[in-house]
Amino acid sequence: MPDSSRILKKLIEEFESGRKPISVNFRELVSWLPYNSPRYSHYVHTYPAKVIPHIPHFFLGCEDFFKAGSRILDPFSGSGTVALEACLAGHHAIVSDSNPLALLVTRVKTTPLSQAHLTNSISKLQQLVKQTRGAVPPEVVNIEYWYHAHTIKQLSRVAKAISKLESSPFKRLSQVALSTTARKISLVDPRISVPVRLNPDRYSEGHALKIKTALHLKNLESTDAIALYFRILKEVADQVASLWPLRKSLGKLENVYTNSLTSGSRSLSLHAASSVDGIVTSPPYLGAQKYIRSCSLSLGWLSITKPEKLRSIEDLSIGREHFAKKSYSEEPKKCLPAADALIKKVYHRNPLRAKIAASYLSEMKDVFKTCHKVLKKGAPMVLVSGCNMLNGEMFDTTAYLQQICIEIGFKPVVEMTDIIKSRGLMTLRNKTASVIPLESVTLFNKL
Ligand SMILES: C[S@@+](CC[C@H](N)C(=O)[O-])C[C@H]1O[C@@H](n2cnc3c(N)ncnc32)[C@H](O)[C@@H]1O
Repeated sequence: MPDSSRILKKLIEEFESGRKPISVNFRELVSWLPYNSPRYSHYVHTYPAKVIPHIPHFFLGCEDFFKAGSRILDPFSGSGTVALEACLAGHHAIVSDSNPLALLVTRVKTTPLSQAHLTNSISKLQQLVKQTRGAVPPEVVNIEYWYHAHTIKQLSRVAKAISKLESSPFKRLSQVALSTTARKISLVDPRISVPVRLNPDRYSEGHALKIKTALHLKNLESTDAIALYFRILKEVADQVASLWPLRKSLGKLENVYTNSLTSGSRSLSLHAASSVDGIVTSPPYLGAQKYIRSCSLSLGWLSITKPEKLRSIEDLSIGREHFAKKSYSEEPKKCLPAADALIKKVYHRNPLRAKIAASYLSEMKDVFKTCHKVLKKGAPMVLVSGCNMLNGEMFDTTAYLQQICIEIGFKPVVEMTDIIKSRGLMTLRNKTASVIPLESVTLFNKL
């Protein structure tokens, strides 16, 4: 893997002379990494608002900043893009995410398995599915609304067969494939990440998507869910098997935490102080991502979460939009001088939006305090962030997060910006919480 230290040093010098964000294209900075072509196990599962592998790849390959065999933390792992790039660079990964599906995908993505083991395990699972009849469907939210009856029967057989497997990396891989299948074969519009039912009438007469959607709906009536499942399972298996030849140089996924806030017995805040060598992360956006809702069908099919528990997981999700009415009956407490005036203004027009923004900033502050505690002195932290609109006003998330970090004891070393080409789950909602298509990447050092 090429050492990108020289490029980064030049960018730092340029930043120091102008103190303005430098416009870069990360895909070009790491031109040796092809864009949109499969790279090991990065695409085992889709996930909302993934970061492009090029950003962590660039930084983690800077040997002057990230020494070989470092411990790299991503407090917002999502699908594990940073964790996999860390392992590929020979570092070890520590992750946290409040979405159990994110942690499952991260584990699968970073665990190499041999082709022989996978082929053998897949054929055993095929036998098991054949022998499994009359399976009761797991508790999936509004299952009959999202699936045809024959699909429910077939997916339930797969789910039951998987549940009989002993806990193992292969079982997790088979769950990831079930999650993808359950999404693909549902009546959910694949173009929207939160579940919305496919409906050709959404499009005007003659619109290409009208015909495409109608055709897709027709196909779903006769799709064999079990055959589709095993096709997807083989694809996922092939990706994971591509890591096997690298297993000796590949870093390990060392610690997995279930959230970055201070609550819970598996919270990142319990990690040992000054034990992490570097952080690379892309935090959730304010109000734009509904991670739990977008994964609700998968969480049900995998029997990870019962429908009535989805809300309690969502309550841990930073950037969430659901709050009890009484929690915003009063103006939010001041949390950041640069944002307080805007939040106050928005409060008078839309108290819920003000509550969402204030909670976001104060929870992000808590997470950065934990990041500061666990990071070694002088160690780097890379923050990928973007800005939002809040009730028609610019909410400068990047500047706010930078100020929080500076307040806590991080020093900005360089800031870069890149145009977001594609980020899932950017729901535009009547100017209340849209996302601006510019990604900022800031490198800090812990003072
Ligand atoms: C922008 S996504 C990260 C995407 C990731 N970089 C990738 O490439 O897939 C942000 C993640 O933060 C997670 N998150 C939100 N609140 C959290 C919390 N309190 N603790 C840990 N993770 C949280 C969400 O579940 C989501 O997976």
